Amino acid sequence: MSGEPVKRPGASPPAQATDPVAPMAGAPIFEARDVSLRFGGVRALTEVGFSILPGELFSIIGPNGAGKTSMVNCISGRYRPTQGAVFYKGRDITALTPNQRATIGIGRTFQNLALFGHMTVLDNIMVGRHHLLRNNFLTGSLYWLSRARREELEHRRAVEEIIDFLDLQNVRKAVAGTLSYGVRKRVELARAMALKPDLILLDEPMAGMNLEEKEDMARYIVDLNEEFGMTVVMIEHDMGVVMDISHRVMVLDFGRKIAEGLPEAVLRDEHVRRAYLGEEDEVLVDPEDAALRPGRVA
Ligand SMILES: Nc1ncnc2c1ncn2[C@@H]1O[C@H](COP(=O)(O)OP(=O)(O)OP(=O)(O)O)[C@@H](O)[C@H]1O
Ligand SMILES: [Mg+2]
Repeated sequence: MSGEPVKRPGASPPAQATDPVAPMAGAPIFEARDVSLRFGGVRALTEVGFSILPGELFSIIGPNGAGKTSMVNCISGRYRPTQGAVFYKGRDITALTPNQRATIGIGRTFQNLALFGHMTVLDNIMVGRHHLLRNNFLTGSLYWLSRARREELEHRRAVEEIIDFLDLQNVRKAVAGTLSYGVRKRVELARAMALKPDLILLDEPMAGMNLEEKEDMARYIVDLNEEFGMTVVMIEHDMGVVMDISHRVMVLDFGRKIAEGLPEAVLRDEHVRRAYLGEEDEVLVDPEDAALRPGRVA
């Protein structure tokens, strides 16, 4: 699998997002309106607005400390914006908890691995499905038994499908903590997919991987977008991968959106080039923020 090119010709938005006869045409699956987030004196995000269409593979890029993870945390509910609002399928979800957002179809992975190291791969993935469980020990009376049994079988089937999809058959019984970093990242993706999210948030899914692992991961992401129909928000520092597989890209710098559009256009954008070259952009950079600016990735 790793030898195949990941390039997506044209990298244009999927048909369902642009089809004029589709009932949801043009209606975003997610929208951020005027989102600002402060941590004391630090402005992690300032008036960021954007929307994502169903079926898109949408990447968020920017230098270290630009606010990418903060934005994803505002989508997942881990952080609540200090100002502004976030909408999912047209509904204002700003006040919902992360669990409530997971239940309505927003799944995520973390920048730093968050697996249960002592548990098996299978159990880690099953944990991802607990939001979908209707029956637990409280409702586990005889009356519910057949339904619970059916539900259990459905969970197993769904988990096995994901294990096959991500080529994790060989390690399904292995204790997660004993596996290589690249495989653990894949298990984390499996757990996020197990929730069957409509919108999946991937925070640096390829960080720390070698080239081969990166190529594999890029292909899994393209496939989960195309085959499983999941809308993807991906944060990634590897520009080659971002440019190859994204439909659209948004660039953050100093917590502000400085560009958004097709990958090629974003790459040519003057503000983006400055942000990545590390030159000061007097139009966009607030001198107050500049003092707080952390280090950059070349
Ligand atoms: N929980 C927090 N408490 C205080 N400051 C925070 C917190 N989370 C983020 N920040 C600050 O907000 C800013 C944006 O951080 P964020 O983690 O969103 O950046 P990032 O773009 O994801 O960076 P990286 O590429 O390094 O992961 C940084 O200045 C960071 O120090
Ligand atoms: Mg981050």
